[in-house]
Amino acid sequence: MSDGFSGWNRPPGPGAFPAYPGYPGAYPGAPGPHHGPPGPHHGPPGPHHGPPGPFPGGPPGPYPGGPTAPYSEASAAPLKVPYDLPLPAGLMPRMLITITGTVNPNPNRFSLDFKRGQDIAFHFNPRFKEDHKRVIVCNSMFHNNWGKEERTAPRFPFEPGTPFKLQVLCEGDHFKVAVNDAHLLQFNFREKKLNEITKLCIAGDITLTSVLTSMI
Ligand code: GAL
Repeated sequence: MSDGFSGWNRPPGPGAFPAYPGYPGAYPGAPGPHHGPPGPHHGPPGPHHGPPGPFPGGPPGPYPGGPTAPYSEASAAPLKVPYDLPLPAGLMPRMLITITGTVNPNPNRFSLDFKRGQDIAFHFNPRFKEDHKRVIVCNSMFHNNWGKEERTAPRFPFEPGTPFKLQVLCEGDHFKVAVNDAHLLQFNFREKKLNEITKLCIAGDITLTSVLTSMI
């Protein structure tokens, strides 16, 4: 339905996305927006900026590789893909991850992987040409084995060459995904140790502009 936000934590604001206070977000230990890297090298994590928040059970202060001077949105270079975002305190309910980017021309696929060690708690995988069709595949991988695929997304909101905003909200027992301010799908938790899901890997046929964590 067009009311894509029923169930999101807040009603849509003027920008049609549920407003979340505190930009950059107050995700414990996570610094806010990640914009383009300072240089061409695929090296340590890109710039972490924004104020470091309190890290439950951990030392306050800088994380490996960050924080560095802020980059403005306008001048930000694309982030290198594949891109790994450390989530030092893991996931938790109300945590929102906002990814902006542009689908490459002639894409095959891209993916988000929320990882607990080598396991993938949540694999979100838009495929542009599976048997000449477009489909979003969600799954998990435990001990190197893929689980049961979920292919129930009611639409495919990505287009080649087109910018997108992809948001993943961690709720009490599922992930909720919205694209361009409209709800897309949910994925029930299979891995319940949220605090051990400490990495988000973004890969595939997109140009990545920014990755932001916040709490709503
Ligand atoms: C496999 C594919 C993986 C992953 C998985 C999801 O066929 O090789 O990359 O997308 O499906 O079930």
